[in-house]
Amino acid sequence: MIREQQTTIGFHVWGAEKLSEETVKVLRLDNDGITYAMAVTEEGFLLHVYYGKRCGDDDLTYLLHLDEGTYTPQHHNRERLNFMDSRPFEYPCHGIGDFREPCFMVMDEEGMSACDLRYRGHRIVSGKPVLKQKGVRCIPATTASEGEAETLIVTMEDAHEGLVVELSYSIFRDSNVITRSAKVINKGYREVHVNRVLSACVEFPSSDYDMITLNGAWARERAVCRAALHGGKQSVDSIRGVSSAQHNPFAALCSKDADEDRGEVWAFHFVYSGNFLAETEVAQDGKARFVMGINPYDFSWLLKPEEEFTTPEVVMVYSEEGFGGMSRTFHDLYRGHLIRGYWKDRERPVLINNWEATYFRFDQDKLYAIAEQASKLGIEMLVVDDGWFGHRDFDNSSLGDWYVYEEKLKGGLKPLVDRVNALGMKFGLWFEPEMVSDDSELFRTHPEWAIQIIGRNMTQQRAQYVLDYSNPEVREYVYGMIRKILDSANVEYIKWDMNRNLTEVGSTALPGKRQRELWHRYVLGVYEVMDRLTTDYPKLLLENCSSGGGRFDPAMLYFSPQIWTSDDTDGIARLQIQYGTSYCYPASAMGAHVSDCPNHVLGRTVPFDTRGNVALAGTFGYELDVTRIPEEDRAKIPGQIEKFHRFNGLVRDGDRYRIGNPFGTEQYDAWMHVSKDKNEAVLTFVQIMAQPNRPKRNIKLKGLCPDKKYQCEELGMTLSGRTLMTCGIDIGLHGDYASATYYFKAEE
Ligand code: DGJ
Repeated sequence: MIREQQTTIGFHVWGAEKLSEETVKVLRLDNDGITYAMAVTEEGFLLHVYYGKRCGDDDLTYLLHLDEGTYTPQHHNRERLNFMDSRPFEYPCHGIGDFREPCFMVMDEEGMSACDLRYRGHRIVSGKPVLKQKGVRCIPATTASEGEAETLIVTMEDAHEGLVVELSYSIFRDSNVITRSAKVINKGYREVHVNRVLSACVEFPSSDYDMITLNGAWARERAVCRAALHGGKQSVDSIRGVSSAQHNPFAALCSKDADEDRGEVWAFHFVYSGNFLAETEVAQDGKARFVMGINPYDFSWLLKPEEEFTTPEVVMVYSEEGFGGMSRTFHDLYRGHLIRGYWKDRERPVLINNWEATYFRFDQDKLYAIAEQASKLGIEMLVVDDGWFGHRDFDNSSLGDWYVYEEKLKGGLKPLVDRVNALGMKFGLWFEPEMVSDDSELFRTHPEWAIQIIGRNMTQQRAQYVLDYSNPEVREYVYGMIRKILDSANVEYIKWDMNRNLTEVGSTALPGKRQRELWHRYVLGVYEVMDRLTTDYPKLLLENCSSGGGRFDPAMLYFSPQIWTSDDTDGIARLQIQYGTSYCYPASAMGAHVSDCPNHVLGRTVPFDTRGNVALAGTFGYELDVTRIPEEDRAKIPGQIEKFHRFNGLVRDGDRYRIGNPFGTEQYDAWMHVSKDKNEAVLTFVQIMAQPNRPKRNIKLKGLCPDKKYQCEELGMTLSGRTLMTCGIDIGLHGDYASATYYFKAEE
């Protein structure tokens, strides 16, 4: 529910004898779980009042503390530094006395940069309007029908420049979620450069919190990091052009006592795939300001009169059930309101990908042999990875030449696809559509289509350049090639890869004063092609990938229901990667495969069963040469696939509870997936290192109904949910990396 309240408040002003009075307007968003409140002062300042657990329907304006601190100025006299630099602003600007981190900075034709946004009005709409910007095909965001959400749009104006900023706040009816974004419209008569336009700011009343971020690297994505807030700025960001493996566009503040099951968490997730900033600043008064949005680093967007700019969306989740509650809220939101299309709620085919099986060394016979063997074992789709196009024998050529490498696939794609289909299997294909190799027909014909600064050296990574997706000609051409391939054979799945970061960020197609827009225009161009692809081929299963999980972000989920989680497929390393990823992404989105041993990244050998049990917590598939693995491993595949079909409904649609912590010292990990009706659950336990004199570990289950009785075949016991959650079960496995699954079914 969104409400407006008028209230008159009294407060003390420094030097004045009488109590001062002022009428403020309160704008309030509530559902059963949360309250978000802001207030408009008589001068039009939009101040933050409260965000957190649902509070009573009382007048909350006392929380504004308008008279806090010395030298509190009179109202109508607040354009004074001591007011501007200490008040909690909903959307802070730059250059008028607030020296903390701003959300909005512009520069006008004279090179002036101050800005003063004041409230001009608001409107409330049911549902959640689609994020739009003239000339932009699609801005990924969560969706909600009328009745599922309500949206407050606050209009702010900077009268000096004639700039209007609309701040959107959508509150979901049934979950602790508010989404935010901002739209700038130039209503003035001069051009302005928007140099910073973040999506959200939340002011916290103290700095008594820890900040959680998900950090990592290639093959070590999304490790959970926790650090106490301290004076000054703490941030994660990306300036790589992609959301990145180094830092996920996620951050949370939490109470000091927050753990997996208890404590308060305020989480923020940016629905964006490019440069981002997530920052907390603890200011001189000890209060914390959190901001999130497109990274202002090297960003500038020219806004001519009547032009507009819409920011991507920030999803804000509040939990009073610690990180577990936070994650389940994200999972439900993304499964219900972000992931779209045919595969949204469907079981995905169990696939076998040839990357780790063959790398670039394959031909149609090799691929068919893998498919034939795989089909006998119950595998449902063959995915041909990198190397099927141009003359690609290694990673140094042919990106951009999206036609079949006939020396490897004689007669083209169709004969192979038809044969694979005849085995009863689907067929999928790898592309890296945003790239062009130095050695490619495309680059030889159109060198100007690569991102570059003319006259400068073009930095290579993997002997490739990034195509200028801000240029509609480039998008059209590349998409045309993809279409041709898709129309030539029955390709039902695409792995869309992206294997380098952006350098020398310049476009031969943009005018000088729009060059700094390229970072963002690139991302919008990628969204456009992905949107066309999924619209034109509605049943196509799209899996995103970026050197493993280098672009694992919510915006990608808007197009592809699953993302390759990491190039590290080691069953034990994956525990940490999947644990961190599960902080905000559902299991149904996590690409997870069983690969061969010794693992190609780590050289470690983990039992085949454990590799399977870990991959079962994601989308599930294989990444190995099934014709060459040991017979005893191969023999286990049908059993694993049977388990997949048994448990995938639970994994895909159920609630995930993290029980162990692979970052901890306990040397085990465990997690559960529980059906929404709490009638079924599966527990997975993985022993990292066996410990002497510690024959059994006690694992307390979570998420069950205390009053139901659950039968567990593996344990040969029937116990109440209450006992299972209070006393736990004892698990004793033998050996490092041993694992087991336990299925619980409630008695009728
Ligand atoms: C990086 C991906 O993460 C891998 O799975 C594989 O597709 C390679 N690229 C292919 O070049």
